[in-house]
Amino acid sequence: MRTTVGIIGAGPAGLLLARLLHVAGIDSVVLESRDRAYVERRQRAGILEQGTADVLRAAGAGERMDREGLRHDGIELRFDRRRHRVDFPALTGGRSVLVYAQTEVCKDLIALQLREGGPLLFEAEALAVEGADTDTPRVRFRHQGCEGGEDVLECEYVVGCDGFWGVARKAVPAGLTQTFERTYPFGWLGILADVPPSHDELVYARHDRGFALLSMRSPSVSRLYLQVPDGTDAGEWSDEDIWDELERRFETADDWRLERGPITQKSVTPMRSYVHEPMRHGRLFLAGDAAHIVPPTGAKGLNLAVGDVVTFARALSHRKETGSPELLDAYSDTCLRRVWQAERFSYDMTTLLHRAPGATGFEDRLQLARLERIASSRAAETDLAEAYTGFPFGR
Ligand code: APR
Ligand code: PHB
Repeated sequence: MRTTVGIIGAGPAGLLLARLLHVAGIDSVVLESRDRAYVERRQRAGILEQGTADVLRAAGAGERMDREGLRHDGIELRFDRRRHRVDFPALTGGRSVLVYAQTEVCKDLIALQLREGGPLLFEAEALAVEGADTDTPRVRFRHQGCEGGEDVLECEYVVGCDGFWGVARKAVPAGLTQTFERTYPFGWLGILADVPPSHDELVYARHDRGFALLSMRSPSVSRLYLQVPDGTDAGEWSDEDIWDELERRFETADDWRLERGPITQKSVTPMRSYVHEPMRHGRLFLAGDAAHIVPPTGAKGLNLAVGDVVTFARALSHRKETGSPELLDAYSDTCLRRVWQAERFSYDMTTLLHRAPGATGFEDRLQLARLERIASSRAAETDLAEAYTGFPFGR
């Protein structure tokens, strides 16, 4: 098989990249190790920055998003039984976010790719990226449709959109790589529940018992998260225990109530900050979770992946139109500027709202002072609102 751009992974990064390249008249092939149902069912992120929504619309993938997505003009911070709303448009000159799950983004992009785009191979597992430092990189992959079960995809460029556990990163020589990592002694127990959200915007709660988040997937489906110790198994928590604990952590001084309902999905997500530098080696480029991971507290994961693939598609189009490799050569630095701002914001939101095991009274008072600062200072509140609603895509 031959193509211009070999894309490994059909998550939000790989699928959107294939779409952006198709719109730019550049052919690609997407290799995805899992089946379509897995990709479309995998519950992860739910917040689209305005820039992300604009890119999806411009790529022709925004019609259902605009019909079913929920526009949110703010979030609520809850601490010490108090409620503080952060007003995004007032603080950012009109920016807001869209609540629309990455499962739905992937469904929309898969449908488009199968209808109009290049080959999207499911159950096609990339085994290795070879020749990344040559002009003819290739991806060796396993697929039941190939003779002998294996084949090679020959490309001009390879983009690793294969997530944190993928293979693309391994093709960057260790001697040229720097990685930066922070792990956390806690994770999130996330649930989907068939009950209307108990608030019309997201609620981020800091409590002495631990963090809790109220989010949503639709007017009738709630998405909620509880901070749990690292290594927690979702099966350790009964539905009733989950609702009881959420109720404790969302407590307020007023008569706000958390509505309960049947839990339809339950899973634990570990927490990690991670950056792989550089995000390019020869003709191999890394995008999305293949290059960086953020704690989900800042809702940045999907939006960072979008920024990376927009940057790559723009750079390759520039190369094809002008012959100049300058934007491709700047790819890693351009993406990393945005990545590190998102890492800083996600780390700040995580340490602001989660109570680490062994936290003392000093850390508790520090967190409450940081929250008080945001609640009483327009400057501090603006920093949060600007970061939450999104950083510009670098040129
Ligand atoms: N060969 C082919 N596909 C692979 C391989 C491989 N060797 N290894 C992993 N994959 C696939 C996975 O099955 C997955 O579908 O790559 C895809 C990676 O997708 P994500 O993990 O969602 O990563 P990305 O597209 O970068 O999305 C980043 O989106 O879902 C949100 O917040 C989430 O931070 C995440 C963000
Ligand atoms: C979600 O709805 O899944 C979600 C929302 C906000 C976050 C993280 C996850 O910060």
